[in-house]
Amino acid sequence: MRLTTIAASIALAAGMSSAVTSTMAADVEVLHWWTAGGEAAALDVLKQDLETQGVGWKDMPVAGGGGEAAMTTLRARVTAGNAPTAVQMLGFDITDWANEDVLANLNDVAATENWDAVVPTALQAFSKHDGNWIAAPVNVHSTNWVWISKSALDAAGGKAPESWEELVAVLDAMKANGITPLAHGGQPWQDATIFDAVVLSMGNEFYKQSMIDLDMDALSGEEMVEVFKRMETLRSYVDDNFSGRDWNLASAMVIEGKAGMQMMGDWAKGEFLKAGQTPGEDFLCIRFPGTQGSVTFNSDQFAMFGQEGDADAQQKMAAAILSPTFQSAFNVVKGSVPARTDVSDAEFDDCGKKGMKDLAEANEAGSLFGSMAHGHAAPAAVKNAVYDVVTQHFNGGLSNEEAAEELANAVDAVL
Ligand code: GAL
Repeated sequence: MRLTTIAASIALAAGMSSAVTSTMAADVEVLHWWTAGGEAAALDVLKQDLETQGVGWKDMPVAGGGGEAAMTTLRARVTAGNAPTAVQMLGFDITDWANEDVLANLNDVAATENWDAVVPTALQAFSKHDGNWIAAPVNVHSTNWVWISKSALDAAGGKAPESWEELVAVLDAMKANGITPLAHGGQPWQDATIFDAVVLSMGNEFYKQSMIDLDMDALSGEEMVEVFKRMETLRSYVDDNFSGRDWNLASAMVIEGKAGMQMMGDWAKGEFLKAGQTPGEDFLCIRFPGTQGSVTFNSDQFAMFGQEGDADAQQKMAAAILSPTFQSAFNVVKGSVPARTDVSDAEFDDCGKKGMKDLAEANEAGSLFGSMAHGHAAPAAVKNAVYDVVTQHFNGGLSNEEAAEELANAVDAVL
């Protein structure tokens, strides 16, 4: 179906729904999952930017890190003929919606602002569909980070770990010091975020074969058994109350010195900054030991759903998102790095500067990979299959050998 036909039928189906009538033509209704302190602070930068251009903001937050709940809400809204005007989305989810031919075409604004020249190709793979721009990338996050309390590390010997063995030694020392070594929230997407990094720590080739190429031998083989062994080891350093905990509460444990470290994407930095902490002084950011030089990325993008009367506000929002000054201001707060290659790192703190440098170097070296946990390695069906196995194993339901075998079976079943 053509985009215009869809737009017309969506508008028709929406009818007199209050959600639509209360949204003025110059407003955008934005569906997103940025509800944690650091995330909300970053979102505010976008809201204010749009307000200065006369574009009103109708907030549609759906809590839940990683965005699974938001995507369920989106599906329900679209099915009800009441799609939001702009939606935060990740990787393959964008492609899935583009395949349904319901996303607004952003080619005009992309051409005016020359997005082709400045948006990294790894992001364009998701922002463009059949040669058309259908999403505006707001940032680049990466998942293979560890956030360490400086005081907890000092008490544990002071040296940031660079290898798996050093990591285990630091975790042991933190345990001996009477704190929770690893702050973690037991939710499938968080388990999978650590899994991303552990798989990558077995080598670039292995990450590519198993997570991107979905090679059955890599998914079920000895190296994957070793990955699960490492996950089992990490599991032994979390506290008893980890189950179901939100990621930002795990960050708070590190911020408050109750825990030693958190393995999480760089949105965690937003929480440290919001709490008034400074990198290098209060906390450290390091790449997950064994993944230095490599990056597993995810990029938040905003896709627009075609609704009559919204085009002007949508184009303004898309243009605002990609403006270099906004990219700097927003990402400084969010913990991510710009989705354009030409933004100065001057305003960024040391972790942000490192993030930008790592991204550029990994891109050059061919060691930049899409994050499985955050929808940039494979479509949602595969991602969910991986989540299921990783979480079952993390909670003791599968041995390391069983988990590797089950991982291959679960992925194979949805291919
Ligand atoms: C990621 C998203 C980040 C951050 C995180 C936790 O999927 O890309 O921007 O919001 O979830 O909510």
